[in-house]
Amino acid sequence: MSGRAEISPHERALLEQTLGLAELGRPAARPNPVVGALVAAADGTVLATGYHRRYGEHHAERVALDALEVLPPGATLFVSLEPCAHRGKQPPCTDQVIASGIRRVIIASADANPRTAGQGPARLAQAGVSVIWGPDDIARRAVQQNAGFHASHRWGRPYVTCKWAMTRNGRVATGDPNRRWISSPESRELVHYMRAGSGAVAVGVGTVLADDPLLTVRGTMRDRIANQPLRVVYDRSLRMTPDCQLVRSADEAPVLVFCVEGAPDEARNRLERAGVEVVALPHGPGFLAGSLEELAARGVNDVLLEAGPQLCEAFHAASLVDAVTCFVAPFEASPDQAGFSRSSPLVQALQGGQRTSSGVDTVVIRVLHEVT
Ligand SMILES: NC(=O)c1ccc[n+]([C@@H]2O[C@H](COP(=O)([O-])OP(=O)(O)OC[C@H]3O[C@@H](n4cnc5c(N)ncnc54)[C@H](OP(=O)(O)O)[C@@H]3O)[C@@H](O)[C@H]2O)c1
Repeated sequence: MSGRAEISPHERALLEQTLGLAELGRPAARPNPVVGALVAAADGTVLATGYHRRYGEHHAERVALDALEVLPPGATLFVSLEPCAHRGKQPPCTDQVIASGIRRVIIASADANPRTAGQGPARLAQAGVSVIWGPDDIARRAVQQNAGFHASHRWGRPYVTCKWAMTRNGRVATGDPNRRWISSPESRELVHYMRAGSGAVAVGVGTVLADDPLLTVRGTMRDRIANQPLRVVYDRSLRMTPDCQLVRSADEAPVLVFCVEGAPDEARNRLERAGVEVVALPHGPGFLAGSLEELAARGVNDVLLEAGPQLCEAFHAASLVDAVTCFVAPFEASPDQAGFSRSSPLVQALQGGQRTSSGVDTVVIRVLHEVT
């Protein structure tokens, strides 16, 4: 049996709990989705929990089932994403669920891949397991929790989060040699967490020329990821030179540069000799969308756009910014410094966003495009 049945308020709370468990797997699960699972007895007592801890390791259902000492009759498995029916790095979860003796499964969200979606639940139902889909609001949250995983299948492009730090008066540079960063140490740590969960980190050449960034995951997050995100530079006429930090560290983490067809061969050869991949796309309004399709083809589900105002605004104007995260620092910088105008559509997009604190900064987060 498979379908949408009423679940009790307590079961609803248990299903929501699997979304919280799933978060514990971020960022180490990348490029897999984060998934949480739990087994509850017929009276609602939680018997075991699990989550997908790291890419290549056991899936959440398996972790929860393995943690179970005995399976009492009437137990239910709750899981944030439908159990898979295919063999990847791990055997199919559906086989393990069936073998465990569980007779009832409540699922928050369907698989992102239309070619495999529904196969796991169908197999469970064939084996006599009762499969229940959770309420729509939890399904939406579960899909958004793995926005990139779902976007790459449903939209054919990665999910793009535009992140920047600015002063109270909208400046993105301080102009003060004694004040290198705008945001607080706590916010910068958060940025490493965001990078670690992204398949690619992107900037425009303006940022490379101004800041010479490294864009790698460093600090405590470094040990939690299998590999560094791809570092992407938008540099249509190849102004970037091989002496920048990005190119000099190409052995440590890959670098991909998007230029236009007809960009100077000499510059291209220089970058390629230094270990950078250069991809030329047709000049024109489809440039940014085309670049995202290229990234999706490379298995990138999430892009963290860390560019300056020009490229961020260009992505937003093309309707390719799906979420924004802005760190607003509690000071002002000279209006001569690079920054956003008050009427900037991207700054306007922050209105109505969720506000939290990070050290002395205010963090504003807003989802512009939900994956549906
Ligand atoms: N506070 C922060 O969070 C933060 C983050 C990054 C940068 N910054 C600051 O921002 C300043 C640099 O700003 P910026 O706006 O020049 O940097 P940027 O947006 O990273 O880079 C600008 C470059 O992106 C490329 N670009 C722009 N629109 C494009 C489009 N539609 N398609 C393809 N490529 C496009 C252009 O290069 P081509 O014309 O050569 O193709 C353009 O020169 C610096 O002061 C830096 O310190 C601050």
